Amino acid sequence: MQQTRTRAADQTKFLLEESQLPRRWYNIRSDMPTALQPVLHPGTGQPVGPDDLAPLFPMELIGQEVSEDAEIAIPEEVLEIYRLWRPTPLFRAWRLEEAIGTRSRIFYKYEGVSPPGSHKPNTAVAQAFYNKKEGRTRLSTETGAGQWGSALAFACKLIGLECKVYMVKISYEQKPNRRSMIQAWGAEIVPSPSEDTQCGRAILEEHPDSPGSLGIAISEAVEDAAGRDDTAYSLGSVLNHVLLHQTVIGQEALAQMELAGAFPDAVIGCVGGGSNFAGLAFPFLREKFAGREIDVLACEPAACPTLTRGLFAYDFGDTSKLTPLVPMHTLGHDFVPAPIHAGGLRYHGDAPIICNLVKNGWMEAVAYPQGKVFEAAMQFARSQGTIPAPETAHAIRAAIDEALAAKEAGEERVILFNYSGHGLLDLSAYDAYLHGQLVDV
Ligand SMILES: Cc1ncc(COP(=O)(O)O)c(C=O)c1O
Repeated sequence: MQQTRTRAADQTKFLLEESQLPRRWYNIRSDMPTALQPVLHPGTGQPVGPDDLAPLFPMELIGQEVSEDAEIAIPEEVLEIYRLWRPTPLFRAWRLEEAIGTRSRIFYKYEGVSPPGSHKPNTAVAQAFYNKKEGRTRLSTETGAGQWGSALAFACKLIGLECKVYMVKISYEQKPNRRSMIQAWGAEIVPSPSEDTQCGRAILEEHPDSPGSLGIAISEAVEDAAGRDDTAYSLGSVLNHVLLHQTVIGQEALAQMELAGAFPDAVIGCVGGGSNFAGLAFPFLREKFAGREIDVLACEPAACPTLTRGLFAYDFGDTSKLTPLVPMHTLGHDFVPAPIHAGGLRYHGDAPIICNLVKNGWMEAVAYPQGKVFEAAMQFARSQGTIPAPETAHAIRAAIDEALAAKEAGEERVILFNYSGHGLLDLSAYDAYLHGQLVDV
């Protein structure tokens, strides 16, 4: 009764007005205590420069990639599209708290309200905008679970660009509805490895049954863009400018936590390449650099444990060694993760900024087998109602574990996690879980 009365008196959703949409992206590089190591040209071993990147990216994004300015203005045209779903709501997870029996307070930032259903369009729209502005007419990209491919297809349609998506074959087969979504927004889509590129054909020749991987799909999309003047390459995570664009999430969340009269003790996100995590966590890490105490936790699959078990080294971002050498935690560019359902977390590397922060002790990482992840997803769905993406469920697992540990220790913590996307197009994964067919890798 006590808890119910409290719940009725207190708020569940913390909403911002459209006028409160952040007008600048936050660039964490301006505040990082340890500078990033440069990305290297594999041929010369020298740092890559703008000329090396120009065949693949527009100059404005290359500028953002290396910028050390604290803030970068969001173009009005991008804000206008953001307003279709931003600011996104922040929720207090009362019912989950009750289900766990914790006195800790759990909040989550809900990015599932965007048209494609995840945080991904925060950068897709920006990338499409700059490419169009600089005269490109077509973008190529890879996608794992299909969230990124659908976000870029959506952004390209609204901005007015063509789009070609190389979708990791295992996800292409597991998630036909994401495929349809990508096609509904007018993009072309093929399973990767495909017959459309040299590297795809080479991999198929050696491994005709390859389930594909993000590393392979990136190789194909990069080869596609490098071979055509009208086409640029677009990456949905990992790169500095992608993480930058996602920081609208954390800036909004800071304002919303203030509305809730709370500040998080723990900030949590799942990590594939690191963009949704960065989006939420970087504006809070700014506070941590300034002296506030916050635990920052990245969650990844045990089947692809990049931050927890990878080596910190220079490695290629893709399988066919077409990208520069990136300083990051890596499982090896030829690592093909097992086909777990969180397709968006099956990447052998991670964003260099995040790896730098882990290496220097500013944040921690944890890995979970998918059975425990789906248990958490079910507990969430059965208390809060919404069905999370399998990727998001990693963050939910960690939030629940944080609350349980606090309960055990007799503490009350404030826990904030990023709900990076809904799982309504991932129901085949829930089917497998409900029929006892999920395998832990
Ligand atoms: C819903 C969702 N969350 C998280 C991720 C992981 O990507 P990132 O680490 O870049 O946020 C993905 C990637 O596809 C995703 O679709």
